[in-house]
Amino acid sequence: MDTNELLKEATAFEAQTKEQLDAFKSRFLGKKGVLADLFANMRNITPENRKEYGQQVNAIKIAAEEKVSFFTNIFENPDSSTGSDTDLTLPGNWIPSGSVHPVTAVRNEILEIFSRIGFKIAEGPEIENDWHNFSALNFPPEHPARDMQDTFFMSNDEAFALRTHTSSVQVRIMESNKPPIRITAPGRVYRNEAISARAHCLFHQVEGLYIDKDVSFADLKQTLLHFAREMFGAESKIRLRPSYFPFTEPSAEMDVSCNICSGAGCNVCKHTGWLEIMGCGMVDPQVLKNCGIDPEEYSGYAFGMGIERIAMLKYSIKDLRLFFENDVKFLRQFGTH
Ligand code: PHE
Repeated sequence: MDTNELLKEATAFEAQTKEQLDAFKSRFLGKKGVLADLFANMRNITPENRKEYGQQVNAIKIAAEEKVSFFTNIFENPDSSTGSDTDLTLPGNWIPSGSVHPVTAVRNEILEIFSRIGFKIAEGPEIENDWHNFSALNFPPEHPARDMQDTFFMSNDEAFALRTHTSSVQVRIMESNKPPIRITAPGRVYRNEAISARAHCLFHQVEGLYIDKDVSFADLKQTLLHFAREMFGAESKIRLRPSYFPFTEPSAEMDVSCNICSGAGCNVCKHTGWLEIMGCGMVDPQVLKNCGIDPEEYSGYAFGMGIERIAMLKYSIKDLRLFFENDVKFLRQFGTH
């Protein structure tokens, strides 16, 4: 008797009727069945083959017993095809799914727009030292942003503070990478401000940095126009107004045409037709030097925006505090993303 064939036969067995099951049972497990013969045959097997033979016979026995118990169960419980009491056709318990927080949704959207044009995501610590948050970025020692009124310093060590912007991540990336560098830096930032409808001590930013040979202001402008069109619609226009940041020169403030009134004038844009959405500029050569990049060889641009601000404009949200209150009535209005 070929044990391989018998094993195959036992494993492939399916019973449609109780009679088939009984026939199978007596063929394999009956007193005069296949297994009884196989076990009886054991003494004819040479000692060196006995172990292997024994294992094969055992495998057939286990397979046959499993089939018998499986199909016996089915025939004894005819209203369940699985042999258990679980009815798989009943509807499941409803588990309510949450929705993505609007700040997360808008952050993801911003990052996706820039990642499609080659920006990689970079992250850094929220507790920063003076060098990465201020000094490397050309903040002079007397700059008001360093003041206790604006910055949360660690009470046990004033050399460390909660970062006030994610430009600190840009410094870290420039210090440890060679150009070309093309990154976005999303994350939480902290400023010691009175909490109101327009300001909070904690908010979120996405900053961007691009350093390579021959990067120009025109590259910055076109990239930001592309961003505005992707984020606020293909008809969007942008304008840049001169501004000042210690770490960029020249610096600008970018406005996008109001997507609510399309420039006609409304309450949100305060009847100007424009919404201010970010700061930007060409990275100051001294900042490149501070981070070990030769400004004779490389140039670059940087930009930074508040995610809450973009979300407020996108969803017409009037009070910044709503983002932090975790009121489900507010949060439920934003679909999963
Ligand atoms: N870091 C600036 C801020 O926090 C934003 C900014 C980033 C401006 C990059 C210019 C260039 O407001």
